[in-house]
Amino acid sequence: EIVSVKGRWILDSRGNPTVEVDVTTACGALGRAAAPSGASKGTKEALELRDGGKEFHGKGVNKAVSNVNNEIAKALIGMDSLEQRAIDYKMIEIDGTPNKSRLGANAIVATSMAVAKAAANSLDLPLYKYLGGPLADQLPTPLLNVINGGAHAGNDLAIQEFMIVPWNFESFSEALRAASEIYHTLKNLLKEKYGKSAVNVGDEGGFAPPMRETREALDALMKAIEMSGYEGSVALALDAAASHFYDSNKKVYLIDGKELDREKLLEFYEELIKEYPIKSIEDPLEETDWEGFKEAVKRLKIRIVGDDLLVTNPTIVSKAIEEGVANAVLVKVNQIGTVTEAWEVIKLAQENKWAPIVSHRSGETEDTFIADLAVGSYSPAIKTGAPARGERTCKYNRLLRIEEEISKPRFARNKYFL
Ligand code: PGA
Ligand code: ZN
Repeated sequence: EIVSVKGRWILDSRGNPTVEVDVTTACGALGRAAAPSGASKGTKEALELRDGGKEFHGKGVNKAVSNVNNEIAKALIGMDSLEQRAIDYKMIEIDGTPNKSRLGANAIVATSMAVAKAAANSLDLPLYKYLGGPLADQLPTPLLNVINGGAHAGNDLAIQEFMIVPWNFESFSEALRAASEIYHTLKNLLKEKYGKSAVNVGDEGGFAPPMRETREALDALMKAIEMSGYEGSVALALDAAASHFYDSNKKVYLIDGKELDREKLLEFYEELIKEYPIKSIEDPLEETDWEGFKEAVKRLKIRIVGDDLLVTNPTIVSKAIEEGVANAVLVKVNQIGTVTEAWEVIKLAQENKWAPIVSHRSGETEDTFIADLAVGSYSPAIKTGAPARGERTCKYNRLLRIEEEISKPRFARNKYFL
């Protein structure tokens, strides 16, 4: 039984305030969780409630915190923390809006995750086992964003994320070691070629070198992988986040100093896939172009991941599955606002041979909920930034500890590939 729900503001990795919630049960179990925050959001995401006004340049979360401490606390106290679905739907009901804009998705998501952690603690179970049961023994393949562009960096790369995917390894820890080695090789290589300011990092801990063209970044990654001795064992993945380099007036994508229409952009991706071991592209086209996404699935023959396209919304994901507009879904709990709904998206994906990829946001906290969610839900992949910066490494480090805890852990390797 929940006896208290307490919200507060804390700072996220960009130095902005965000909501943290403590949920306590009658037996004294505590669950603490914090809402992350995106910078390159999908337009249909649940609403992050911000105060406006002068404090924190308008980004204060006092209203959201007060909603946790008043309305949400009142509704949840006395409920059983093990009833995650009932609790999440209770919050959806009292919020009363389709996008959680009254109470704030930041208030709701932090509470929802804190409830799950409190429930796990009340049973003395690690969160991944509470969520996934005794058979949850698979560690996800990490997608590590090591070169940042787009909305996450101050350079001219249109593509937002250039990720390495260490997959051909016996364990998660070996994959992570390879990623760390590649990250540092890449750092030296970038420093040599572009000067020391090239190794300043973007929001997700990846380097933000002054590159202009997509292939420059891909070539640097391939070189770093080769020099580290992992050719063939480490693949690549991209998050284009194409809505953010789309000119909706001209109906063209501004990339590599060119203006490409949908057809030309798809041809460009086809070339890249021939030249590099790219296993997935997230949001290859702007988020309203469902026809284009269908084309992408048919023509590119790799995982097409919907993020801004699907915003972790079970209704949108069901429709997207029916229409075949992607074959993988990025799962960000705060995009929809509750653990229950994010879980529904993961199950929908798995039932339909789509790959769920559990994901962080570019604005993060030290919360490691998503590491446990990935293991507990048998998700084949996790995307949580570079193997550097505390708010990113805490998730990878949590996975290392989970791997150590499981007696015969399995590693997802290439399970997320098509
Ligand atoms: P975010 O974007 O800045 O909205 O978290 C990350 C992503 O596009 O995957
Ligand atoms: Zn994305």
